[in-house]
Order: sequence, then structure tokens, then C-alpha cells
Amino acid sequence: MNIPRPILFFFILFFFFFLSSSLENCMLDDICGDGEPAIQFPFGIQKNQPESCSYPGFELSCDSSNHTILTLPYSGQFAVQGIDYAEQQIWINDPNSCLAQRVLSLNLSGSPFYGLTNESFTFFNCSLDYLKYRLLNPIACMSGSTYAVFATTSSRVISFLASTSTCTRIGTFVVPVEFPLYAEVMSSDLNGHLRLAWDRPGCGRCTARGGRCGFESNSSHQVVCSRLPQRGIPRGARYAITVGVGVPAILCVLGVLCCVFGKVKSLTRGHRTLPEFNSAVAPQPTIVRGLDRSSLEAYPKIVLGESRRLPKPDDNMCSICLSEYRPKETLKTIPPCQHCFHADCIDEWLQMNATCPICRNSPP
Ligand SMILES: *[C@@H]1O[C@H](CO)[C@@H](O)[C@H](O)[C@H]1NC(C)=O
Ligand SMILES: *[C@@H]1O[C@H](CO)[C@@H](O)[C@H](O)[C@H]1NC(C)=O
Ligand SMILES: *[C@@H]1O[C@H](CO)[C@@H](O)[C@H](O)[C@H]1NC(C)=O
Ligand SMILES: *[C@@H]1O[C@H](CO)[C@@H](O)[C@H](O)[C@H]1NC(C)=O
Ligand SMILES: *[C@@H]1O[C@H](CO)[C@@H](O)[C@H](O)[C@H]1NC(C)=O
Repeated sequence: MNIPRPILFFFILFFFFFLSSSLENCMLDDICGDGEPAIQFPFGIQKNQPESCSYPGFELSCDSSNHTILTLPYSGQFAVQGIDYAEQQIWINDPNSCLAQRVLSLNLSGSPFYGLTNESFTFFNCSLDYLKYRLLNPIACMSGSTYAVFATTSSRVISFLASTSTCTRIGTFVVPVEFPLYAEVMSSDLNGHLRLAWDRPGCGRCTARGGRCGFESNSSHQVVCSRLPQRGIPRGARYAITVGVGVPAILCVLGVLCCVFGKVKSLTRGHRTLPEFNSAVAPQPTIVRGLDRSSLEAYPKIVLGESRRLPKPDDNMCSICLSEYRPKETLKTIPPCQHCFHADCIDEWLQMNATCPICRNSPP
């Protein structure tokens, strides 16, 4: 062997470096700005990375205020609020803070995403003598000085608003909400995020086990899971030992160097890998404070007769569901204020909100 040892040594090091750096390109997290979600496979930023770093349909971009943007083929741009790589879910919202407006034209066709918790909301556009529907929350960003727009999932509210001459039904739209609704919602301004999921590529398990998913090579769309944490000797060191067998003189140096090199690399990698999902942006369920079942059961009930004689004769409409009382319906009154509602309406209301919907008094 005539090759001087240092040259051989550098040649081997160079070879290692070349091998690993060609795979590194797409393996780093990217980010649009402070507090924005970390972007990794299957997502990629269109401009910063070669296109082959993102799976088709998962291209993101950064807008001028450093927000992360997902563009859906038929519905335009949405701001990405968070990505859970292990669960394969993404949270998006309207960059202009009027999600309800965007829901009217939401169409996920042509994208890899679908809703996990779909709810159908019916939208109404009502002229502004809606003061009598004061328990309905209008969607502020869609309402004007002479009209108000409402979204509801409640069949009672739908049949009431549909029967009035002041309201026009805009339509019913499927909304991939963040959390399933456990009861009908009388009105919502849809101010949460949309939660979408994807099935392919199925990198969730790889990510959950600490690996990195990516294309096998830049010419194939074969997705592979790599870099699963290994037990025992690092792969680099094993390789070094195999190569070193015929060159006993550099065996030790190379082995030690590769171990150190491997350690340093895994350390820097640990720094570069941002948390998969920033819990500060993780949507939290709204906490509702209401009454328990036993207090609800204790309130006085009335079953209306044919004459529909009411405790308060001028009050012939349930102001929760906005429909008139009919014979044989069961009503309930709230003890301190004697306000009267359909039993099922007020039960639903009080479980969410422990105050009388009309006078806001707290029942005992
Ligand atoms: C966006 O990020 C860059 C650095 O990454 C910074 O210089 C710039 O000020 C940011 N712009 C905004 C609007 O925050
Ligand atoms: C979504 O858009 C596609 C393409 O325009 C269309 O074929 C499809 O019917 C739309 N779906 C809905 C639910 O509107
Ligand atoms: C939600 O609705 C979309 C289309 O409207 C559908 O493709 C998807 O499968 C639905 N999700 C669930 C969990 O039913
Ligand atoms: C609601 O109605 C008003 C006028 O009646 C109209 O200007 C507005 O565009 C409508 N909004 C929607 C979302 O249909
Ligand atoms: C792989 O990517 C490199 C650098 O981005 C490029 O030069 C090369 O042509 C690509 N190879 C193929 C087969 O696309």
C-alpha cells in the first residue's frame, strides 16, 4: 500500500460525508417564521426546497407575514395552524379571520385531505329585525348593517328560521370542525379551526416511533421510513469497523472518529428537529360550565294542555329554539325568574351555561 495514510483517511471521510449529505437535503425541518408549525415530509415549502421534498398535494408556502399557507385546489389559501405528523392531521383557518365565509366554498376535492369530524351547518341570511332572535349569535364578519348571517345545526332553529319571511336559507354545508358536537348547536360563528386528516403517505407510525419519512430517492415516489433510533453500535461505527479490518493501523482512529462524528451529528439533528406539533397552537376544546343532571331534574315541569295555558301568558315562544309552544309539549321553568322554555331546550342550554338565557340569572 503506497497511499499515505492521511490521504486514505480523508478519502474515507469524504466518502462518508458524501453518502450522508446526499440524503440530508429533504431531511431537515423547515419553518415559515416564529411560532409557525415545523414543516417536514410529507409537507414541504415550495420555494425553499426542491419540489421532490414534498409529497404531491402537500406543498406549502410562506406568505409575506411569515404565515404557513396551504392552497387547496378548489378553495384557495388557508393558514396552517398546526400539524400533527404522528396522527396525520392538520389544522387550518382563514388567513382573513372569517372562516364561516370560507366554509361556503370549501371543497376538498383534488387534495389529499378529508374531514374527520364533519358537521352540517345550515346558513341563513336574515334581515335585521332579528332582535327577537337575540339568542342566536350572528356571524359578525358576514353580517352587515341591515342583515345578519347565522349558522346552525339545530333542526328546531332551521325550521323556525326557514318559516320566517325575514330569513333566506343560504344552504347547508359540511364543515370539518375540530371537535365533534355532542349536541345540536343553535348558532355558531365557526370561529375555531378546521381539522383535516390524510391517509397517504402513511408516515404517522414512522414519526411516532422517532423515524423520518421521505422519498427513497429524488427520482422515485417510493416513501420510506428511515433513521429509526437504533440500539447498540451506531451504523456509522459498524461500517467503519468493517472497512477498517484490512487497515489495522487506522482502525482505532477511524472507529473513534466515526463514533464522535455520529454523536455530533445526532446532537445537531436533535437541535434541528423542532417539536412535531407546537402545543401552544394545538386547539383546545372549549370548557363549558353548566349544571349537572340532578339539578336539571329538580326544576318544575309543565305539560301543556290543549288550551296551552302558560305561566306567563305573553310568553308563547321558547326563546331558545324560537318555536311556539304546542299542545302536549313539556315545558320547564327556572325557579328564581319563572322564565319558561321547552324542557329539552333548557336542559341542553343549562348543561352548557348555568344561567337563564333570558335574564342571565343563575338558578340555584
Ligand atoms: C419573516 O421572517 C424573516 C426571517 O426569517 C424576518 O426577517 C422578517 O422580519 C419576518 N417578517 C415578518 C413580517 O414577521
Ligand atoms: C368540488 O369541485 C369539483 C371540481 O370543480 C367538482 O367536480 C365537485 O362536484 C365539487 N364538490 C362539491 C361538493 O362541490
Ligand atoms: C367528511 O366529509 C367528506 C366530504 O364531504 C368525506 O369525504 C369524508 O369521508 C367525511 N368524513 C367522515 C369521517 O365521514
Ligand atoms: C345577505 O343579504 C344581504 C341583503 O339582503 C346581501 O347584501 C348579502 O350579500 C347577503 N349575504 C349572504 C352571505 O348571502
Ligand atoms: C436528484 O437531485 C439532484 C439535486 O437536486 C439533481 O441534480 C439530480 O438531477 C436529481 N436526480 C434525478 C434522477 O432527478
